[in-house]
Amino acid sequence: MERRKAVIIGTGSYLPQKVLSNFDLEKMVETSDEWITTRTGMKERRIAHKDEFTSSMGVEAAKSAIASANISVEEIDLILVATITPDYAFPNTACLIQAELKATKAAAVDIQAACTGYLYGLSMAKAFIESGMYNTILLIASEKLSSIVNYRDRNTCVLFGDGAAASVITFQGKGLRIRETCLGADGEQASLVNIPAGGSRQPASMQTVSDELHYLKMEGKELFKHAVRRMEMASKVCIDRAGLKEEEINWLIPHQANLRIIEALAKRFQVSMERVYITLQKYGNTSASSVGIALDELVREKETKKGENLLLIAFGAGLTWGAGILTVEDGS
Ligand code: ACO
Repeated sequence: MERRKAVIIGTGSYLPQKVLSNFDLEKMVETSDEWITTRTGMKERRIAHKDEFTSSMGVEAAKSAIASANISVEEIDLILVATITPDYAFPNTACLIQAELKATKAAAVDIQAACTGYLYGLSMAKAFIESGMYNTILLIASEKLSSIVNYRDRNTCVLFGDGAAASVITFQGKGLRIRETCLGADGEQASLVNIPAGGSRQPASMQTVSDELHYLKMEGKELFKHAVRRMEMASKVCIDRAGLKEEEINWLIPHQANLRIIEALAKRFQVSMERVYITLQKYGNTSASSVGIALDELVREKETKKGENLLLIAFGAGLTWGAGILTVEDGS
């Protein structure tokens, strides 16, 4: 019997309307458009309205992906939601989205792999589909990072934005075949980027609030070194496992954390910058959503040809990292 394939048959994304520019940030912390632009490549990011949540943004992205896949909600048998900013500690955000979409036949669970969340989700979806356990999976990545960013900390507040992405993955149809995925993690480096309090190790208290321990903390310089090294390694392994050569990569869709990191990776894999899909100038780093948003925009805005290979790469807290190769099956 022929092995089942996992295919992305529809994508969607959602970005909140409110724009926070580098010039707005100049009025909030000691920074400058020049510093942010030269160190990160970012110009603007989107900020969710107070009545928008990770779940509601995820629902919007999901509706768009479901429409582009042309399926009915009843067909979905699993919802995976990648996020580090769930609506609640529990229940999971996937259940909230399931209820909103009325996807009553679907199981629902969250994935917590920070900026690598979409790739971890893609890998799980591939395994579930290929094993025959599920037929139609809705993978969502959604982040309201503005809810955990300290807008008095210039080291972090210039970097992050809000937004959501979604993909419908099934075992047949036209679209992007999930050809290979490679994941990795290094928990020894867990302290490089985290939220110190609010979990079982340091529950919320008056003290943790006054010490500002519920905000995202990050050692950017140290992370930068890991990011390039880990993503390069994961990509190499993934290209090898897919039986491809580096020159057969047609598009690079990287995590949108820093333009300098992306340029280093493009150079390493000899992909010209016109073939690298970049959104960070307008959305900043949207963590789990970043690769999914870029993929959705690429599919909608660029012409991809049958047989082309897209290399997706991401890196984030954990540390976690991953790479994935999608192959265009019938044009998209
Ligand atoms: N405006 C002006 N100056 C600033 C700002 C700012 N917004 N932020 C930091 N600075 C200052 C620093 O205080 C420092 O000053 P000092 O030299 O007087 O101490 C100086 O600029 C240089 O700071 P560095 O941290 O060395 O700057 P760097 O060039 O490394 O850029 C950055 C910082 C953008 C964070 C970069 O290191 C980076 O992108 N790191 C990787 C982040 C990443 O990959 N994140 C993914 C995981 S995130 C997640 O999973 C949720």
